[in-house]
Amino acid sequence: MKVLGIETSCDDTGIAIFDENQGVTANVLHSQIAMHSEYGGVVPELASRDHIRKLVPLLDKALEEGQCELKDIDAIAYTEGPGLMGALMVGAAFGKSLAFANSKTSVAVHHLEAHLLAPMLEAEAPAFPFVALLVSGGHSLLVAVKAFGDYEILGESIDDAAGEAFDKTAKIMGLEYPGGPVISELAESGSKGRFKFPRPMTDRPGLEFSFSGLKTYALNTYERNKSEPNIKADIAYAFQEAVVDTLFIKCKRALEQTGFKTLVVAGGVSANKALRSKLNGLRNFEGIETFYPRHEFCTDNGAMVAYAGYRRLKAGCQDSDLTINTKARWALDEID
Ligand code: KG4
Ligand code: ZN
Repeated sequence: MKVLGIETSCDDTGIAIFDENQGVTANVLHSQIAMHSEYGGVVPELASRDHIRKLVPLLDKALEEGQCELKDIDAIAYTEGPGLMGALMVGAAFGKSLAFANSKTSVAVHHLEAHLLAPMLEAEAPAFPFVALLVSGGHSLLVAVKAFGDYEILGESIDDAAGEAFDKTAKIMGLEYPGGPVISELAESGSKGRFKFPRPMTDRPGLEFSFSGLKTYALNTYERNKSEPNIKADIAYAFQEAVVDTLFIKCKRALEQTGFKTLVVAGGVSANKALRSKLNGLRNFEGIETFYPRHEFCTDNGAMVAYAGYRRLKAGCQDSDLTINTKARWALDEID
């Protein structure tokens, strides 16, 4: 079975082909970062328009890379939510009409389910059950994944998502969007110990996160010390260290609470090297195994949508009609 996956929930247009025998045979992406960067964040209307422009050329490119034609594709998966409504509608309308016109099956995919299954595209894939830490620009949550489709949300951010905090902290210091990769690189030349940022909500029980205070802390620290040498790198270091420590503490707690021995980390922030190295320390802690997607499958991409669509189809799901049901908000534990 070959599944074409279409991702358009935010600012990346991704198309990929997942073949059940060969794995990912095509993965093409157009990032809109350059277009949105002058605004310091994603402009929804511009995002939708650009998805429209890029989908057809990317489809051609994916078919070429996968060395196949549309007739060889068995099903079309697309992201139905959560995300930017206009952007989602472009991908869903494109996916469903492409399927309809070519007499193919189409299947709706939950963006966060796609992220959390992304590590399964690797040769060493995690086995159920596991704790998933999903950290992206739009979401930060811990999930008990008992089986495919069986998700219990253990805790979420009560305000900003982890990636959003990286983006906002970068913006405060006049750095480029998206802030995650920029801060992470800058942190490498930052000095340990100059600033100590708080570890929000770690001093009380529970698995909720709060990252908006860190951004305010970064703003105040920056305003007070702006003219000093190496200030941006030192703030980047202290900020990243605080986010990483906080995520580490909560992951450890979630593993203890569930008794699960496997941790899966996914979403854009899972590309962060400091986070990976800290979480890999859990391997020495009662033999916890850690799994991540490969770098290009951390941030939004079509491959994870194609794979999640494949798993959904195998589980008997598929669209029953042509209605477009895109959802800007859609909790992971509300999937059918
Ligand atoms: O998963 P994703 O592509 O989009 C959403 O679904 O939100 O995640 C994008 C987010 C951005 O906030 C970006 O700053 C963050 O992931 N990000 C990182 C890194 N690479 C991307 N954050 C920290 N360190 C990184 N290396
Ligand atoms: Zn995402």
